[in-house]
Amino acid sequence: MTALLRIEDLTLGIKDEDGVTPILRGISLDVAAGQVQGLAGESGSGKTITGMTVMGMEPAGSVTSGHIWLEDTDLLALRGKELNQVRGQRVGMVFQDPSASLHPQLTVGSQLTDHVRYHLKLKRAAATDLACDWLERVGIPGGRAVLRRYPHEFSGGQRQRIAIAMALACSPGVLIADEPTTALDVTVQAGVLALLRELVDTLHLAVLFVTHDLGVMSAIADNVAVMHDGEIVEAGPREQVFTNPAHAYTRSLLASLPGAKGGLLSRADLETLGGGW
Ligand SMILES: Nc1ncnc2c1ncn2[C@@H]1O[C@H](COP(=O)(O)OP(=O)(O)OP(=O)(O)O)[C@@H](O)[C@H]1O
Ligand SMILES: [Mg+2]
Repeated sequence: MTALLRIEDLTLGIKDEDGVTPILRGISLDVAAGQVQGLAGESGSGKTITGMTVMGMEPAGSVTSGHIWLEDTDLLALRGKELNQVRGQRVGMVFQDPSASLHPQLTVGSQLTDHVRYHLKLKRAAATDLACDWLERVGIPGGRAVLRRYPHEFSGGQRQRIAIAMALACSPGVLIADEPTTALDVTVQAGVLALLRELVDTLHLAVLFVTHDLGVMSAIADNVAVMHDGEIVEAGPREQVFTNPAHAYTRSLLASLPGAKGGLLSRADLETLGGGW
């Protein structure tokens, strides 16, 4: 299968008065359409920075090398207007905290419609229809009345669903999801994971899914990469990495999981919990 998103030997350092601190030390990952590439690893290993760099949102002072191919466009080489077009339109992102994508003082409808009007150049009526369709698709029914509500008038799980709608409304091929369910409680978490998986399968998204939670990872990812100190120390199909980890670091991550099943969720668990929010 050919990769839609191909990260090739990505290095990133952050420059300050004392020199350049290395953060990413040669990351390579291929993500095909319809596949979830999980990215695990302990706090500070570089997961978020990897995702942010794909979005062109690396920290100020970053020095990068390598390539981030989205089909035949090298995202790492884009600047300004070209980068803005890619961001949001060809690559969407969902963050741990949905407030990062939703403005508290604007209605959900105005944010969704402004976003699609800007990127897709739609007229107001078409943008409103698209916004309604998307809210329904992510499990928030209620039609136009919902568009007039503010983010705080929804539950945490609903806000994350709205953030997902926002990330996908312009039909990007790639989605970066950085700990999208970490702030939610467990049943709500399973519902949002089930929604994400369904969207990946129906829209054939290539997803980079960052989480430090191997239980969440086992439920959603097709392939798993484990990061340690800015490097990928292990990568492979989910079953292989979970049942036969090659690297001592991965074994220690797995051993630290709580619960009888080692804290791992299965696809079947997701399906049973899927409706919960
Ligand atoms: N804006 C920044 N300026 C300087 N260093 C940064 C910045 N953001 C992150 N770092 C450093 O980069 C490294 C990787 O951080 P990153 O946020 O990618 O980790 P992470 O794997 O996502 O961790 P977590 O699981 O806690 O979210 C860390 O050492 C962090 O201190
Ligand atoms: Mg992070």
